Amino acid sequence: MGVNATAWWRSAVIYQIYPRSFADGNGDGIGDLAGVRARLGHLAALGVDAIWFSPWYASPQADAGYDVADYRAIDPVFGTLVEAEELIRQAHALGIRVVVDVVPNHCSSEHPWFSEAVHSGPGSTARDLFWFRDGRGEAGELPPNDWQSIFGGPAWTRVRDGQWYLHLFDPGQPDLNWEHPKVREEFEDVLRFWLDRGADGIRIDSAALLMKDGELGDFDHAEPPVPHPYMDRDEVHDVYRAWRAIVDGYPEPRALIGELWLPDPERFAAYLRPDELHTAFNFGFLGCAWRAKALRAVVDATLAVHAPVDAPATWVLSNHDVPRHVTRYGREDTTFTLEHRQLGVPTDRALGLRRARAALLLTLALPGSVYLYQGEELGLEEVEDIPDALRQDPMFVRTNGANLGRDGCRVPLPWSGGAPPFGFSPPGAGRDPWLPQPAAWRDRTVEAQTGDPDSMLELYRRALACRRSQPELGDGPFAWLPGADPDVLAFTRGGRGALACVLNLSTAPVGLPAGTVLLASGPLDGAHLPPDTAVWLRT
Ligand code: GLC
Ligand code: CA
Repeated sequence: MGVNATAWWRSAVIYQIYPRSFADGNGDGIGDLAGVRARLGHLAALGVDAIWFSPWYASPQADAGYDVADYRAIDPVFGTLVEAEELIRQAHALGIRVVVDVVPNHCSSEHPWFSEAVHSGPGSTARDLFWFRDGRGEAGELPPNDWQSIFGGPAWTRVRDGQWYLHLFDPGQPDLNWEHPKVREEFEDVLRFWLDRGADGIRIDSAALLMKDGELGDFDHAEPPVPHPYMDRDEVHDVYRAWRAIVDGYPEPRALIGELWLPDPERFAAYLRPDELHTAFNFGFLGCAWRAKALRAVVDATLAVHAPVDAPATWVLSNHDVPRHVTRYGREDTTFTLEHRQLGVPTDRALGLRRARAALLLTLALPGSVYLYQGEELGLEEVEDIPDALRQDPMFVRTNGANLGRDGCRVPLPWSGGAPPFGFSPPGAGRDPWLPQPAAWRDRTVEAQTGDPDSMLELYRRALACRRSQPELGDGPFAWLPGADPDVLAFTRGGRGALACVLNLSTAPVGLPAGTVLLASGPLDGAHLPPDTAVWLRT
């Protein structure tokens, strides 16, 4: 065990709970902490090492809780702080660690700091905690610069007295001024608040965006072009060095996990230096095409970038911001980038499922830790036919529907029964689930899949149990098997290479290396591995 026993985050399988959509305990159609507490058994049976909770804080829910009004309180729609504390204890008792989501780039427009800033007026010290500026144009009627919100439209909104404030996301998410010591002190205290309550890790939302170029000049129209004014600025590393010192002050290992969407691998790795974050999400892998050459290149690049900083790699296929991977893999074009959301594209569900099963064995066999997103263990697909009037993602509204947004991967989970709400809400609940569930999900419930050896859920359970029992898996040595077909990914784990993973991305069956098959993602063809199928072998 050694290092793995203490540095749990080097090889953990971490399951993301999106609280609104996991399980509804009180019947109002929205998931809550009572629902999670009642369903923790599912996660223990699944065999995950940790859970990460997307924001559960007091929030007006302008961006599904990523707009926080009070970082130390639970939103009443989800429950109470006492329940959250109880939930952390309950998870720990089951051997499951807990990661909380901290959102430092912005708060809610209903956070007391922002209300005070709005009421105090231009030039007030309360406004210094945010980015308030006068507008351009004769009467200040134009935004201070040309920055665009990541959700669409200008990144500035005007308040009554005529000043504008910056919001890289929704107007309900004003950006905080990280040059201000009060902002830094506040978040250091918020970290301690959750670490003191037993959080084993902190997921840092939009971690590369905190620092801004105080000049606030144009970006898109700057001539000559300027360095990025708010993404990945060098000064942000000081923030994480301070956070690391706090986390290191706790006796048991706590992990800092960055949400970093950065194209440059060197810049990405800089966040994982020994005195900064422990790990970060591997979005290069998430967005990669289902092709041997591309996947091999991403794996190589990932390992090459992490090695010099001695940080474990992470592997992730889905989360609450991207179309579910069963859907992506069922399409002609299997890549994903943030700018590129494919809509109404023909999708072959059977193909997507077969690939998703193989992808599970690939990710769980790669060195490092793995993130699972709730519902992927059920093989859920992206729900595309949500009526416009029911869509809630600000991305949909702010682009006038040009971008369908992220509601399709946030539909409440199906647990049991033959009709909506599929056990998501208790029997006799007064309200429908906050997004409608497809009728076809009657075949995808936890109940329907339990005990069916061919189901996605049983594959996840077997794979996670097998990963735990094989000492070579998780953190540790990795090597490609020489001589494999270029359309086949084959590698060994562990120093002596006794455990192998083989994934066939070609269109014809391929021969398997000699050995005992521990687990296969689908039926084998004698000693041959069919296309879009993966195996774990003891050689
Ligand atoms: C992160 C979250 C996303 C949220 C955004 C703003 O990217 O994952 O859901 O909308 O930050 O907080
Ligand atoms: Ca509820």
